[in-house]
Amino acid sequence: MQRLYRKRIVLGVGGGIAAYKSAELVRRLRDQGADVHVVMTRGGREFITPLTLQALSGHPVHLDLLDPAAEAAMGHIELARWADLVLIAPATADLMARLAQGVADDLLSTLVLATDAPIALAPAMNQAMWRDPATQANAQLLGERGMRLFGPAAGSQACGDVGLGRMLEADELAQCAADCFQGQALTGKHVLITAGPTQENIDPVRYITNHSSGKMGFALAEAAAEAGAKVTLISGPVHLPTPDRVTRIDVVSARDMLAACEAAMPCDLLIAAAAVADYRPEVVAQHKLKKDPSSGDGLLLQMVRNPDILATLASRADRPFSVGFAAETENLLGYASRKLQDKNLDLIVANDVANPSIGFNSEENAITIIDRDLQQSSFAQTSKSKIARQLVDFIADRLHRA
Ligand code: C5P
Repeated sequence: MQRLYRKRIVLGVGGGIAAYKSAELVRRLRDQGADVHVVMTRGGREFITPLTLQALSGHPVHLDLLDPAAEAAMGHIELARWADLVLIAPATADLMARLAQGVADDLLSTLVLATDAPIALAPAMNQAMWRDPATQANAQLLGERGMRLFGPAAGSQACGDVGLGRMLEADELAQCAADCFQGQALTGKHVLITAGPTQENIDPVRYITNHSSGKMGFALAEAAAEAGAKVTLISGPVHLPTPDRVTRIDVVSARDMLAACEAAMPCDLLIAAAAVADYRPEVVAQHKLKKDPSSGDGLLLQMVRNPDILATLASRADRPFSVGFAAETENLLGYASRKLQDKNLDLIVANDVANPSIGFNSEENAITIIDRDLQQSSFAQTSKSKIARQLVDFIADRLHRA
């Protein structure tokens, strides 16, 4: 199981002898499925070369704040936004002191100020330096600000001392990093998620479908599993790998999707992210339709309404907490609010698919959530996996209050 599958980790390497373990750490993080960008301080470069970490991470190493070429490729703000986790290993006494002061005089310290991602520190220093009241006060302050401390461990040190201050081993740090993504907000809950498009056959070789990629629904399934839920993901035809710990059921048409959802009930929470075809051809031709000269240049297809999966499940006696999506190109919040009421939902997630940077098939999203009291909460544009985690946390909170 790859516990860090597709997680984006910025690994900050400070200037301590434990930096030699950072090379191994990059490998362990990648073994767990993470994508790793390394940022080195000036001191870090004295202990291990950027070339080593570039070869192991598969990306150029980020070194300077004021390097125009590096900034043009992936600047410090982009790197800060890209990260799902910033892990600093080794975190020296000096680096911790600078972070505690909010100093931003190099790339790593600036990035720490600029990121919204969780930050974890793996302290590594001489045992007397670790015990020093100044370091202890810095560690406490950084912890109070929400940074996590991984270690340090006790044992023999490079300088010959014995005591607390050793950096944790690479595989322990990789496990600690994975634990950062393991929440409990949905522990014990069964979550049913629909994703992707549906395909409605016209004849044996043609069908009607839409541009949904399934990315948002799959990201939600991953986030729900990370929040501790048992997840059933019912997906139309997409080209995406199944997230870890998720039970996936593939379907083709809207009617298949409804049947699969009904078979997977009961559930505590339903998130309907699928772009279900509203209509299907009334008759599916047994053989490939031929161009018919008698009907001129046109072809008339008689269409009938598909069942509304979300509305059907949200009207059952054992209805789950129900969350729908409203992908609209105009009057976003107006249409979304109406759908919330018409489909008897607890929450609706509105997204503007007219904006190409957040619409179908894009990597990012920005959303507004509307509740039954028509109160709105917005999440700014970011990757679909980050939006998914924010959304799952929001939904879990409302589910527990319901
Ligand atoms: O009515 P509209 O298709 O815009 O509603 C969107 C929401 O309803 C989405 O959550 C979508 O997954 C769900 N839906 C459904 N079954 C349908 C149509 C939409 O579950 N037939």
